[in-house]
Amino acid sequence: MEFEKNILCIGAGYVGGPTLAMIAYKCPQYKVTVVDINPERIARWNSDNLPIYEPGLDEIVKAVRGRNLFFSTDIERGIREADIIFVSVNTPTKTFGAGAGMAADLQYWEKTARQIRQYAESPKIIVEKSTLPVKTAHAMERMLQATNNHVHFEVLSNPEFLAEGTAIRDLEYPDRVLIGSRETPSGLKARQELVEIYANWVPRERIITSNLWSSELSKLVANAFLAQRISSINSITSLCEKTDADITEVARAVGTDSRIGDKFLNASVGFGGSCFKKDILNLVYICRYYGLEEVADYWEGVVKINDYQKERFVLNMLTAMFNTLAGKRICIFGFAFKANTGDTRESPAIFVCKRLLEERAELVISDPKALENAREDLQEAQGKISYVEDPYEAVAGCDAIAVLTEWDIYRQLDFKKIYGSMDKPCFIFDGRNILDHRGLFEIGFNVFPIGKPPLTHLK
Ligand code: NAD
Ligand code: UGA
Repeated sequence: MEFEKNILCIGAGYVGGPTLAMIAYKCPQYKVTVVDINPERIARWNSDNLPIYEPGLDEIVKAVRGRNLFFSTDIERGIREADIIFVSVNTPTKTFGAGAGMAADLQYWEKTARQIRQYAESPKIIVEKSTLPVKTAHAMERMLQATNNHVHFEVLSNPEFLAEGTAIRDLEYPDRVLIGSRETPSGLKARQELVEIYANWVPRERIITSNLWSSELSKLVANAFLAQRISSINSITSLCEKTDADITEVARAVGTDSRIGDKFLNASVGFGGSCFKKDILNLVYICRYYGLEEVADYWEGVVKINDYQKERFVLNMLTAMFNTLAGKRICIFGFAFKANTGDTRESPAIFVCKRLLEERAELVISDPKALENAREDLQEAQGKISYVEDPYEAVAGCDAIAVLTEWDIYRQLDFKKIYGSMDKPCFIFDGRNILDHRGLFEIGFNVFPIGKPPLTHLK
């Protein structure tokens, strides 16, 4: 079959895989290829055991793989054949040299630009899908034009706003698609080409266009605003705990103001995920680079409150359990950074577990999808850890439960049965406020929610 266009994505990760699978699903007229330097990842994309868990992803991949969606390690061929190249490689926080711990590490991105330059023989549209510092497109252009092989490249910015756990829904019904370009005739033409791809399923009014720099910066700012809401509500949880106010009631009262809105106001043990922290630190770094110290300090506060919230959770556990956790068995309900994903990158559970181990607690970790990653995250941690998927089995003989991920299964457990199998006194620390606290208290648990008065039988 003749395809209208060849679309390539470099980087078969959490963004590249699902996003390009959706494009292939919605646009049978295009041939979509996703390439990666990691052969194991590509092998898994070509198997029944996909490398990431995302509700609805298996069905979409099964429907289009081999039809117009292909996963491959042949980057050179992919580049040669492509009309449009999405770049969706990882851009983690730099761990070395200038900007270590703050700036984005652009080595993977730069390698990709070099590969494109090396193999491209015909004009290409390059789409920045990764989250990048503002002005990266300029560097990309200079890199691509650094040889004189006369191939024309047009660089677009098209940041991704999907959230893990809801990626397929977010891709199918996005709030908006953002496309930034140079405002030159060839830039506007390339922008229109990308608009036409999304217009296959996204209503036109949801496809927003802008200049390149606004697009790149908007992605960092959107993540900073989202994380700021969580740090804002979390900062108030400590005040609630001091004053007997209830954070759920406060969030409802505040969120019903239509100017504020009620989404993303769930108090928690802290936000995790591969992007919020890294993108805010990147924003902070850029502000400092431009000498905007006050602005940098303002946004850095969002990360500081998040660190404070995680530490506070551990200290609350320690205080509640008579100031010693040594030798106590604590069951962790949920290790993923949020529900409906197996991803544990920057999960608050990593921090909490390491701190509990420092206090010499013994951990039994339970999670429906994230145990494989949890094992890796804690492989160097000192102390006694076991991994048990079944929550009833995991909790037997434990002194306390810490709920760190808001998986639905934890709401539906038989807590009478659980209470019966635990050591007494029993404690529950609900880091997500998802359980029926009054009901648990009546069963006999000492209950410590986030930002609400504890319910305890201890005098
Ligand atoms: P990821 O680590 O899951 O995937 C990146 C992939 O790129 C890896 O498989 C890696 O092997 C591959 N890669 C690196 N260098 C390569 C090269 N030179 N050639 C071919 N492949 C290469 O990362 P991710 O979570 O998909 O994130 C990718 C980008 O998207 C990041 O900039 C991130 O900030 C952004 N983003 C992520 C999310 C999310 O939910 N994870 C959402 C929106 C935006
Ligand atoms: C986030 C953004 O929501 C996406 O728009 C963005 O594309 C993505 O980052 C990215 O750039 O990587 P994600 O991290 O996958 O998506 O998940 P979120 O739903 O935003 O949750 C992030 C963290 O905040 C989780 O740990 C979650 O449990 C926590 N959270 C979220 C709260 O503690 N309270 C809330 O009210 C909402």
